[in-house]
Amino acid sequence: MSETQHHHPLVARNVKFQWESTPQPWLPGDSFTSHFINVLHLLLPEGELWFCRLYNQALPEIEDETLHSDVKGFIRQEAIHSRSHQVVLDRYFSDNGIVTEPYTRRVRWLFTDLLGENPFGITTEKQWVKRAWLTFRLGLIAAIEHFTCVIGRWILECRGLDEAGADPVMMDLLRWHGAEEVEHRTVAHDLFEQRGGGYLYRVMLMLLVGPMLLLLWFLGTRFFLRQDPAATQNLKFIREWRRAARQDRLPTMAFLWLSVWRYLRPGYHPRDEAETGQALDYLQRSPAAVAAAAR
Ligand SMILES: [Fe+2]
Ligand SMILES: [Fe+2]
Repeated sequence: MSETQHHHPLVARNVKFQWESTPQPWLPGDSFTSHFINVLHLLLPEGELWFCRLYNQALPEIEDETLHSDVKGFIRQEAIHSRSHQVVLDRYFSDNGIVTEPYTRRVRWLFTDLLGENPFGITTEKQWVKRAWLTFRLGLIAAIEHFTCVIGRWILECRGLDEAGADPVMMDLLRWHGAEEVEHRTVAHDLFEQRGGGYLYRVMLMLLVGPMLLLLWFLGTRFFLRQDPAATQNLKFIREWRRAARQDRLPTMAFLWLSVWRYLRPGYHPRDEAETGQALDYLQRSPAAVAAAAR
């Protein structure tokens, strides 16, 4: 079921961000936290385009009108998310002399080859195989969207980054994106269930997605820190993460584990993970969203 009682139509906000004044690191004196969050910019341009490709494939088979319009809104929002993070790669990192291509090339391989239509060049004409492969990948997206929702809510509520002097443009990008993730949090789960994704299937896919994301985050953070002369040379990933979480600059590991625990419960539904009103409240005052609405 979608959020049928108070169905909220999903609109895409055509935001633009200016990166000329954003310093590197964008969180003063904290390269670790800046780069930990910067991993989003490495993964999301390709990752969210992959969401859009798969959702466009699934769209013609959706009979429920509400879910059909939610999926269309989801595609429009994710397309702008992807583009906005791509601009960070093209402008902000290149202006600051940070190379991203060695990592993004692998991310592209992950989303276009390994998780594309013909992984390892395997082709089939069997419709049931194509359908099952699409449902499997839509289940991966549902698990990923659980994290985008809980982290979206976290960034809306986090105060530590502002108190530490985080760049306001980066914070607006993160909070606008986080708010839209909260806004469309039910879509991926509802679509997966509508295609027959059941409880055990959901659990299995989370057990794949959780460790995979953790690995990608560790590798991405290390990739950035190795290029940053201001960063400490010895990356102590867990120790630094704990320190940043204590300062309310990153979510704690316990926060993420607990959210996974909720996802693994039979009665889980993403509507219970956040409040749409909280997201809309931010979107009404987000500088980028306000400017987009005025254009
Ligand atoms: Fe997104
Ligand atoms: Fe999303």
